[in-house]
Amino acid sequence: MENNHQKIIFSGAQPTGSLTLGNYIGAIQNWKALEKDYQCLYSIVDLHSLTVRQDPKEFQKTCLSFLVQYLACGLDPEKNILFFQSHVPQHTELSWILNCYTYLGELNRMTQFKEKSQKNKDNINSGLYSYPVLQAADILLYQTNIVPVGEDQKQHLELCRDIALRFNQAHGDTFAIPEHRIPKVGARIMSLQEPDKKMSKSDDNVNGTIFLMDTEDIILKKMKRAVTDSENKVLYSDEQPGIKNLITIYSTVGNISIEEVVKKYDGKGYGAFKKELAEVIIEGLRPFKEKYQDYMNNMDFVETVYKRGAERATEIAERTMKEVRSKVGLLTK
Ligand code: TYM
Repeated sequence: MENNHQKIIFSGAQPTGSLTLGNYIGAIQNWKALEKDYQCLYSIVDLHSLTVRQDPKEFQKTCLSFLVQYLACGLDPEKNILFFQSHVPQHTELSWILNCYTYLGELNRMTQFKEKSQKNKDNINSGLYSYPVLQAADILLYQTNIVPVGEDQKQHLELCRDIALRFNQAHGDTFAIPEHRIPKVGARIMSLQEPDKKMSKSDDNVNGTIFLMDTEDIILKKMKRAVTDSENKVLYSDEQPGIKNLITIYSTVGNISIEEVVKKYDGKGYGAFKKELAEVIIEGLRPFKEKYQDYMNNMDFVETVYKRGAERATEIAERTMKEVRSKVGLLTK
């Protein structure tokens, strides 16, 4: 029988702004579900966030807040390795080597690069361009088998596999070939204001995004303003993208099936549906809010979590790096 404990899971989120309901539904909720059966590493990928300018003081606070948000989402620091990417320098070392195994043509195809460079026209730096290679290094460093992510990361994951296969072909088996795990429902939560665009931490229109840290009032307001249509029927259909998105949120946060949501609101209008959805979200986030405060009041503990996380991650990362250095012919010190 397969022993899942030997299987490795890696995933991460960029510490910019704060976690959104999209991050939670598309990724973190599923991370939590994996912690009892696998060896999971969940990183706060701070180096990735440097691809856009950060205010250094604010950035430190955001990074810590992200770790606290991971903990408040219920990720157990005993079962999971929780750490900051920059605390394990092997990520950048491997990234450089893998850059030399990645073609410009491949990076040119990355849709996130195209989107992000559109948005940051005055700062299209080479970090933004080679970002998917750092992401590949994050994953391959730990001999990762499964990467639980939302749909927007699929292309990066495919590139990561291609790089790993290319390296293995050149030097013999070195990296495990990772698979992505994308949820069947909730893989792409859309903006509440523009339901054809994904919900994002960095959306200029904050009304489109629910943040896990939003107060009850704000959640209620954002939900009331959520864009719907003139049908006034709670139906799960591509013709009604706004409502479809809200049903998806209801189903994943309220833990009931899409069919049940549709049945429950049969014959009821959007007003009642949105109000009750806001309540489901508020209830769903209540434990998060309480835990967030508890951990914020206990920063000594939070510090021990990331220090221990970095130690455990480094141990695994260094094992892979030793092999990589030797395979590419770098001399040992
Ligand atoms: P990031 O920080 O944008 O998002 C973190 C996770 O949340 C998912 N996600 C969503 N899921 C559903 N609906 C949405 N609207 C939504 N928005 C975000 C993302 O798919 C992701 O799983 N490049 C990555 C971070 C990263 C990473 C890695 C991930 C760096 N190295 C290695 C996995 C493995 C990113 O920017 O995610």
